[in-house]
Amino acid sequence: MKIGFLGTGHITSSIIKGIFKSKLKVNKIYVSPRNKLVSKKLSKKFKKVIISKNNQQLIDFSNWIFLAVTPKVGHRILEDLNFKKNKKIISFISTINLEKLKKYTKNKNITRAIPLPFIGIRKGPIIICPKDKTLKRFFDNLGRTIEIQNEKISKNFWTISSFMAPFYNLMAVISNWLVKRGVNRKSSEQYTRELFLALAQDSMFKNKMTLKQLVGESQTPGGINAQALKELNKKKFYKIQQTVLNSIFKRF
Ligand SMILES: NC(=O)c1ccc[n+]([C@@H]2O[C@H](COP(=O)([O-])OP(=O)(O)OC[C@H]3O[C@@H](n4cnc5c(N)ncnc54)[C@H](OP(=O)(O)O)[C@@H]3O)[C@@H](O)[C@H]2O)c1
Repeated sequence: MKIGFLGTGHITSSIIKGIFKSKLKVNKIYVSPRNKLVSKKLSKKFKKVIISKNNQQLIDFSNWIFLAVTPKVGHRILEDLNFKKNKKIISFISTINLEKLKKYTKNKNITRAIPLPFIGIRKGPIIICPKDKTLKRFFDNLGRTIEIQNEKISKNFWTISSFMAPFYNLMAVISNWLVKRGVNRKSSEQYTRELFLALAQDSMFKNKMTLKQLVGESQTPGGINAQALKELNKKKFYKIQQTVLNSIFKRF
């Protein structure tokens, strides 16, 4: 199979790294010349990655084409490209819906997907919409594929993916606090990373419990976790989290 990536930025880079760590058999991966630095780096690292002359060439040479440009660029360039009917298109573009994608590409064989950067280490959920068995099999090699039939529902998952930076920021604030208290940076960061990794892994291990039950289980009445939760609640920390999610949702 030959696949192509229109737009060679962060997410393309992560997926290609994931592919070469997996058992997936791809003959060639065509990438667009932009970004120049990223495409050069990838083609230097992986022999099967070829930088195409232009966007149309990568489409013509590939069986599957992944759209990995920003929405602004997508609106500008997609209509002028020629996607033959036998091509399979997978779009990562956050805010261009299926109807518009079909109109731009004049092709009905389109699936939207939400890969996230840790696909590079073959971890995490990957939403695809609508359901697609072949694509699910492909992405199952790179993480855990979740099929969503309804595009409207899939918008909720796009919204949640905005919480990667806030999650890391929560970790950064904790680590910086430790540094201010005199712990050296290396130990602070290591402790924080280990703590959140263990919490996430433990929550998967205890998957018979709801998340709400986990919140309860991790508190001792009158203990420090109970106090932290109570104070954060009182300061509307979690209400704000919901307000922010609602506001992000409006972008989709
Ligand atoms: N990053 C994520 O975690 C993530 C997750 C899910 C979905 N997505 C979606 O995936 C898309 C790409 O995100 P990203 O984070 O990878 O963005 P990015 O790093 O900015 O990559 C976009 C790429 O498109 C290239 N580009 C610009 N104009 C182009 C053109 N005319 N033809 C071909 N390529 C062109 C850019 O090159 P230059 O640098 O030369 O401009 C850049 O390499 C977005 O729609 C985003 O919503 C991203």
